[in-house]
Amino acid sequence: MFKSTMLKLSYLRRAFLACAVLFGSMTQAEPMTGLGKPITDAELVNWDISVFFDGEGLPDGSGTLEQGEAIWGTKCAMCHGDFGEGVRGYPKMMGADLEEFQETAINNGFNVENRGLNNMWAHAPTLYDMIRRAMPYFLPQSLSADESYAITGYTLYLAEIIEDDVELIDADFLRNLEMPAANLFYTDTRPDVQNTRCMTDCFEGELDVTGKLVQGDFSGGNE
Ligand code: HEC
Repeated sequence: MFKSTMLKLSYLRRAFLACAVLFGSMTQAEPMTGLGKPITDAELVNWDISVFFDGEGLPDGSGTLEQGEAIWGTKCAMCHGDFGEGVRGYPKMMGADLEEFQETAINNGFNVENRGLNNMWAHAPTLYDMIRRAMPYFLPQSLSADESYAITGYTLYLAEIIEDDVELIDADFLRNLEMPAANLFYTDTRPDVQNTRCMTDCFEGELDVTGKLVQGDFSGGNE
Protein backbone atom coordinates (compact mmCIF):
# COMPACT_ATOMS: atom_id res chain seq x y z
CA MET A 1 0.00 0.00 0.00
CA PHE A 2 2.69 2.42 1.14
CA LYS A 3 4.96 1.39 -1.67
CA SER A 4 2.34 1.85 -4.34
CA THR A 5 1.51 5.32 -2.99
CA MET A 6 5.18 6.25 -3.22
CA LEU A 7 5.35 4.92 -6.74
CA LYS A 8 2.28 6.85 -7.68
CA LEU A 9 3.72 10.03 -6.23
CA SER A 10 6.97 9.69 -8.08
CA TYR A 11 5.06 8.92 -11.24
CA LEU A 12 2.93 12.01 -10.75
CA ARG A 13 5.99 14.12 -10.14
CA ARG A 14 7.58 12.92 -13.34
CA ALA A 15 4.38 13.49 -15.27
CA PHE A 16 4.20 17.00 -13.88
CA LEU A 17 7.79 17.73 -14.87
CA ALA A 18 7.16 16.38 -18.35
CA CYS A 19 4.15 18.66 -18.71
CA ALA A 20 6.12 21.65 -17.50
CA VAL A 21 8.87 20.98 -20.03
CA LEU A 22 6.36 20.43 -22.79
CA PHE A 23 4.44 23.54 -21.92
CA GLY A 24 7.62 25.58 -21.77
CA SER A 25 8.68 24.42 -25.19
CA MET A 26 5.21 24.91 -26.62
CA THR A 27 5.08 28.55 -25.66
CA GLN A 28 8.32 29.18 -27.55
CA ALA A 29 7.58 27.00 -30.54
CA GLU A 30 6.76 28.34 -33.98
CA PRO A 31 3.04 28.38 -34.75
CA MET A 32 1.94 24.95 -35.86
CA THR A 33 1.09 24.49 -39.49
CA GLY A 34 -0.02 21.61 -41.63
CA LEU A 35 -2.87 20.58 -39.33
CA GLY A 36 -6.23 19.48 -40.71
CA LYS A 37 -7.13 19.02 -44.34
CA PRO A 38 -9.49 20.68 -46.80
CA ILE A 39 -12.98 19.25 -46.56
CA THR A 40 -13.95 17.15 -49.59
CA ASP A 41 -17.19 17.56 -51.53
CA ALA A 42 -18.24 14.10 -50.38
CA GLU A 43 -17.81 15.08 -46.73
CA LEU A 44 -19.63 18.35 -47.23
CA VAL A 45 -22.77 16.71 -48.60
CA ASN A 46 -24.12 15.83 -45.15
CA TRP A 47 -23.73 19.40 -43.90
CA ASP A 48 -24.83 21.27 -46.95
CA ILE A 49 -28.57 20.66 -46.65
CA SER A 50 -30.04 24.13 -46.28
CA VAL A 51 -33.20 24.79 -48.23
CA PHE A 52 -34.23 28.42 -48.51
CA PHE A 53 -37.72 29.84 -48.38
CA ASP A 54 -37.87 30.28 -52.15
CA GLY A 55 -36.97 26.65 -52.78
CA GLU A 56 -33.26 27.15 -53.43
CA GLY A 57 -31.46 24.02 -52.30
CA LEU A 58 -34.40 21.64 -52.64
CA PRO A 59 -32.94 18.30 -53.73
CA ASP A 60 -34.04 16.09 -56.61
CA GLY A 61 -36.66 13.55 -55.73
CA SER A 62 -40.34 13.22 -54.93
CA GLY A 63 -42.83 11.39 -52.75
CA THR A 64 -46.53 10.59 -52.49
CA LEU A 65 -49.08 11.14 -49.74
CA GLU A 66 -49.45 7.36 -49.34
CA GLN A 67 -45.75 7.04 -48.61
CA GLY A 68 -46.03 9.99 -46.27
CA GLU A 69 -48.91 8.39 -44.39
CA ALA A 70 -46.85 5.24 -43.75
CA ILE A 71 -43.91 7.27 -42.40
CA TRP A 72 -46.25 9.33 -40.26
CA GLY A 73 -47.63 6.20 -38.59
CA THR A 74 -44.24 4.80 -37.64
CA LYS A 75 -42.11 7.88 -37.00
CA CYS A 76 -44.27 10.89 -36.20
CA ALA A 77 -47.67 9.97 -34.79
CA MET A 78 -46.37 8.99 -31.33
CA CYS A 79 -45.62 12.67 -30.69
CA HIS A 80 -47.81 14.61 -33.09
CA GLY A 81 -50.89 12.34 -32.90
CA ASP A 82 -52.49 10.04 -35.49
CA PHE A 83 -54.26 12.99 -37.09
CA GLY A 84 -51.62 15.59 -36.34
CA GLU A 85 -53.59 16.80 -33.32
CA GLY A 86 -50.47 16.81 -31.10
CA VAL A 87 -50.12 14.50 -28.09
CA ARG A 88 -48.08 14.64 -24.87
CA GLY A 89 -47.57 18.35 -25.32
CA TYR A 90 -45.97 18.08 -28.76
CA PRO A 91 -47.11 20.50 -31.46
CA LYS A 92 -50.12 19.89 -33.63
CA MET A 93 -50.02 20.24 -37.41
CA MET A 94 -53.14 22.32 -37.84
CA GLY A 95 -53.39 25.32 -35.57
CA ALA A 96 -56.07 27.92 -35.12
CA ASP A 97 -57.44 29.52 -38.27
CA LEU A 98 -55.76 32.70 -39.43
CA GLU A 99 -58.35 35.06 -38.03
CA GLU A 100 -58.34 33.55 -34.55
CA PHE A 101 -54.56 33.27 -34.62
CA GLN A 102 -54.11 36.94 -35.49
CA GLU A 103 -56.71 38.08 -33.02
CA THR A 104 -55.20 36.22 -30.08
CA ALA A 105 -51.70 37.34 -31.06
CA ILE A 106 -52.79 40.99 -31.19
CA ASN A 107 -54.38 40.60 -27.75
CA ASN A 108 -51.14 39.16 -26.44
CA GLY A 109 -52.64 35.70 -26.21
CA PHE A 110 -50.20 33.78 -28.39
CA ASN A 111 -49.76 30.26 -27.18
CA VAL A 112 -48.42 26.99 -28.52
CA GLU A 113 -51.92 25.56 -28.71
CA ASN A 114 -52.69 28.03 -31.48
CA ARG A 115 -49.64 27.31 -33.53
CA GLY A 116 -49.69 25.19 -36.67
CA LEU A 117 -48.47 24.80 -40.23
CA ASN A 118 -51.45 26.80 -41.47
CA ASN A 119 -50.62 29.91 -39.49
CA MET A 120 -46.89 29.95 -38.66
CA TRP A 121 -45.28 28.72 -41.87
CA ALA A 122 -45.08 31.14 -44.76
CA HIS A 123 -43.20 28.91 -47.22
CA ALA A 124 -43.47 25.18 -47.88
CA PRO A 125 -39.72 24.77 -48.74
CA THR A 126 -38.87 25.94 -45.20
CA LEU A 127 -41.10 23.23 -43.83
CA TYR A 128 -39.24 20.69 -45.94
CA ASP A 129 -35.93 22.00 -44.60
CA MET A 130 -37.09 21.77 -41.01
CA ILE A 131 -38.51 18.25 -41.29
CA ARG A 132 -35.50 16.85 -43.13
CA ARG A 133 -33.11 18.58 -40.73
CA ALA A 134 -34.82 18.00 -37.39
CA MET A 135 -37.48 15.28 -37.53
CA PRO A 136 -38.21 12.71 -36.28
CA TYR A 137 -37.11 14.30 -33.06
CA PHE A 138 -35.38 11.15 -31.83
CA LEU A 139 -33.43 10.61 -35.09
CA PRO A 140 -32.86 13.86 -36.99
CA GLN A 141 -31.52 13.76 -40.55
CA SER A 142 -32.47 10.12 -40.96
CA LEU A 143 -35.09 10.78 -43.67
CA SER A 144 -34.02 10.54 -47.32
CA ALA A 145 -34.82 13.33 -49.76
CA ASP A 146 -37.75 11.32 -51.17
CA GLU A 147 -39.11 10.46 -47.71
CA SER A 148 -38.86 14.11 -46.75
CA TYR A 149 -40.99 15.08 -49.78
CA ALA A 150 -43.56 12.43 -48.91
CA ILE A 151 -43.82 13.36 -45.25
CA THR A 152 -43.77 17.12 -45.87
CA GLY A 153 -46.73 16.56 -48.19
CA TYR A 154 -48.50 14.51 -45.55
CA THR A 155 -48.09 17.17 -42.86
CA LEU A 156 -49.49 19.73 -45.33
CA TYR A 157 -52.45 17.41 -45.84
CA LEU A 158 -52.96 17.00 -42.07
CA ALA A 159 -52.94 20.79 -41.72
CA GLU A 160 -55.59 20.93 -44.47
CA ILE A 161 -53.35 23.05 -46.67
CA ILE A 162 -53.52 20.52 -49.52
CA GLU A 163 -56.16 17.95 -50.53
CA ASP A 164 -55.67 14.19 -50.60
CA ASP A 165 -55.77 14.17 -54.42
CA VAL A 166 -52.26 15.61 -54.79
CA GLU A 167 -50.32 12.97 -56.71
CA LEU A 168 -46.70 13.95 -56.30
CA ILE A 169 -44.81 16.20 -53.93
CA ASP A 170 -41.53 17.48 -55.35
CA ALA A 171 -39.45 20.65 -55.51
CA ASP A 172 -41.75 22.39 -57.99
CA PHE A 173 -44.82 21.54 -56.01
CA LEU A 174 -43.43 22.97 -52.76
CA ARG A 175 -41.98 26.00 -54.47
CA ASN A 176 -45.30 26.92 -56.04
CA LEU A 177 -47.53 26.13 -53.10
CA GLU A 178 -49.23 29.22 -51.67
CA MET A 179 -49.18 28.82 -47.88
CA PRO A 180 -52.12 30.32 -45.95
CA ALA A 181 -49.77 32.28 -43.68
CA ALA A 182 -47.64 33.68 -46.53
CA ASN A 183 -48.87 37.23 -45.99
CA LEU A 184 -48.51 37.27 -42.21
CA PHE A 185 -44.76 37.67 -42.53
CA TYR A 186 -42.77 40.57 -43.87
CA THR A 187 -39.15 41.63 -43.81
CA ASP A 188 -38.58 44.27 -41.17
CA THR A 189 -36.25 46.75 -42.86
CA ARG A 190 -36.11 49.22 -40.00
CA PRO A 191 -32.52 49.83 -38.89
CA ASP A 192 -31.82 48.89 -35.28
CA VAL A 193 -30.28 52.25 -34.53
CA GLN A 194 -30.38 55.42 -36.56
CA ASN A 195 -27.13 57.22 -36.04
CA THR A 196 -23.97 58.28 -37.79
CA ARG A 197 -20.94 56.33 -36.74
CA CYS A 198 -18.43 58.38 -34.74
CA MET A 199 -15.19 57.16 -33.16
CA THR A 200 -13.32 60.32 -32.05
CA ASP A 201 -14.28 63.73 -30.65
CA CYS A 202 -17.93 62.88 -30.93
CA PHE A 203 -19.12 65.29 -28.25
CA GLU A 204 -18.30 68.93 -27.77
CA GLY A 205 -18.93 70.91 -24.61
CA GLU A 206 -19.55 69.92 -20.99
CA LEU A 207 -21.19 66.61 -20.20
CA ASP A 208 -24.28 67.01 -18.10
CA VAL A 209 -24.77 63.85 -16.01
CA THR A 210 -28.47 63.50 -15.38
CA GLY A 211 -28.57 60.06 -13.79
CA LYS A 212 -26.70 56.88 -12.98
CA LEU A 213 -27.44 53.47 -14.42
CA VAL A 214 -26.16 51.57 -11.37
CA GLN A 215 -26.79 52.70 -7.82
CA GLY A 216 -24.40 51.89 -4.98
CA ASP A 217 -20.68 51.78 -4.34
CA PHE A 218 -18.92 49.09 -6.33
CA SER A 219 -15.45 50.57 -6.08
CA GLY A 220 -14.39 48.26 -3.24
CA GLY A 221 -12.91 51.24 -1.44
CA ASN A 222 -10.30 51.86 -4.15
CA GLU A 223 -11.74 55.00 -5.63
C1 HEC B 1 -40.20 12.42 -29.96
C2 HEC B 1 -41.24 13.31 -30.39
C3 HEC B 1 -41.32 13.73 -31.83
C4 HEC B 1 -41.37 12.91 -32.96
C5 HEC B 1 -41.33 11.39 -33.01
C6 HEC B 1 -41.52 13.80 -34.08
N1 HEC B 1 -41.55 15.08 -33.67
FE1 HEC B 1 -41.93 16.72 -34.83
N2 HEC B 1 -41.70 17.93 -33.23
C7 HEC B 1 -41.36 17.52 -31.96
C8 HEC B 1 -41.07 18.67 -31.15
C9 HEC B 1 -40.62 18.68 -29.71
C10 HEC B 1 -41.27 19.80 -31.98
C11 HEC B 1 -41.09 21.28 -31.62
C12 HEC B 1 -39.68 21.63 -31.94
C13 HEC B 1 -39.42 23.11 -31.76
O1 HEC B 1 -40.34 23.92 -31.75
O2 HEC B 1 -38.23 23.45 -31.67
C14 HEC B 1 -41.70 19.30 -33.26
C15 HEC B 1 -42.05 20.10 -34.33
C16 HEC B 1 -42.46 19.63 -35.56
C17 HEC B 1 -42.98 20.45 -36.61
C18 HEC B 1 -43.18 21.96 -36.55
C19 HEC B 1 -44.52 22.27 -35.93
C20 HEC B 1 -44.77 23.76 -35.82
O3 HEC B 1 -45.92 24.18 -35.85
O4 HEC B 1 -43.80 24.52 -35.73
C21 HEC B 1 -43.23 19.62 -37.67
C22 HEC B 1 -43.79 20.02 -39.01
C23 HEC B 1 -42.87 18.29 -37.26
N3 HEC B 1 -42.40 18.32 -35.96
C24 HEC B 1 -42.96 17.19 -38.07
C25 HEC B 1 -42.59 15.91 -37.67
C26 HEC B 1 -42.56 14.78 -38.55
C27 HEC B 1 -42.92 14.82 -40.01
C28 HEC B 1 -42.17 13.70 -37.82
C29 HEC B 1 -41.92 12.29 -38.29
C30 HEC B 1 -40.99 12.12 -39.36
C31 HEC B 1 -41.96 14.18 -36.45
N4 HEC B 1 -42.21 15.51 -36.41
C32 HEC B 1 -41.60 13.34 -35.39
C33 HEC B 1 -41.33 16.20 -31.52
C34 HEC B 1 -41.40 15.09 -32.32
